[in-house]
Formats: sequence, structure tokens, C-alpha cells
Amino acid sequence: MATVRAVVFDAYGTLLDVNSAAERAGDALGDRWRALSDLWRRKQLEYTWLRSLMRRHVDFWQVTGEALDYALQALDVHDPALRKRLMDLYLHLDAYPDARATLVALREQGLQLAVLSNGSTGMLDAGIRNARLDELLDAVISVEEVAVYKPSPEVYAMAARQLDLLPGEIGFVSANGWDAHGASAFGFRVAWCNRTGLPPERLPGAPEVEIRSLSEVPAFFAR
Ligand code: LAC
Repeated sequence: MATVRAVVFDAYGTLLDVNSAAERAGDALGDRWRALSDLWRRKQLEYTWLRSLMRRHVDFWQVTGEALDYALQALDVHDPALRKRLMDLYLHLDAYPDARATLVALREQGLQLAVLSNGSTGMLDAGIRNARLDELLDAVISVEEVAVYKPSPEVYAMAARQLDLLPGEIGFVSANGWDAHGASAFGFRVAWCNRTGLPPERLPGAPEVEIRSLSEVPAFFAR
């Protein structure tokens, strides 16, 4: 088996906690923040898949805003200032507590580190900088170059090209099961960070390992 030379992370839900936006607006949303956050995320992902099928790509910032509009209306929240605040909070998501130490340990193992995300370049750069992870990453790769969303194989192929590595030389970490399967079906060596103990997806591809926390990643790619 090829040696892993780079470890590539998914961003939203893997390094960055997407629920931290609505949670921080808990003063305005009350106990609805969790329902809002779940529906916002679900529609955001659905819209990426649907737009890819429809071949009507727009960037992830627009998709995120449209998904938020759907979720706010579904919860009967009509408040333009709150909408603006939630979008701004999406640029200031918390990093998961185990993210930073994991990246530091992998760097010490001599691995190249990158992010591969649906996010548009602007929102990714801001999000990663605000979470103070930017200085630990060698590359931040957005799907915008191929204008289609994960789990299209075109996305994973573009990342391999940019890193100038074979698929089997790339370790990939995602907390999104469907992304873990997509990357594995393409040929990456995948660790699925299944934080909440979800059942495995019934999709092509097979993550090589299932972990509960990012802190397990360095040991896996040290082999
Ligand atoms: C990303 C999505 C999967 O960061 O959240 O690509």
C-alpha cells in the first residue's frame, strides 16, 4: 500500500462546528436554535447535491444563505437582522476542541495538511483564519475550481491534482459519512470521524477506519 503523504480534512462538521453559529444566536432563537441548526445544515447539503444534479452550480455561500432562508421560514422566524447575524456567525464557527492538537501532531509526523471543502474560497479562508487553524495548513482547496459539489469524484480528483499526489497517497478525514464514502470510492485512504455513533452509510466506498474523535487521526496515519 502507498505511503500516505498528505492528510486532507473536510471543513464544515469536521474541523469547524456548524452548530456553533445557531448556538451563539441562542439569545434570539431560544430553544429553537437546535432545530434551526439541524434544518439549516440538512437543506444546505441537499441543495449542494440537488444543484449538482441540476447542473446549476452557485457557490456555497449562496447555498448556505438559501438554506438558512428555508430553515428560518420553516420555523416561522422573520427577522432580517437575525439572518445577517447567523450568516456572519458562519464565518466565525468554533473549531472542534480536538482539531488544533490533531493538526499539530500530524505536522510533527511530517505530513502535508490540507482542507478540501464545498466552501467558497472567501468563506473558507475567513472561517479557518477565525478558528486560528490557518497557520497549520499547507493548502485550502475549494470545490469552486470544478463548480460541482462533493461527493462528485471530480472534486476529489481536483484535490489530488493540486497536491500532485496519487489518490492512495492521500489520507482523508471527514465527519460526514457520505463524504467519507465518496472520498473512499475515489481512492483516498479514509478515516470517518463518527462523533455521534451514527450507523454506516449504505453507499459505495468503505472508510478504512471509523473513529470517534479527531485525536485518533495521527495514530492511524502513523502506520
Ligand atoms: C464541506 C462540507 C461537507 O466542508 O461540509 O465540504
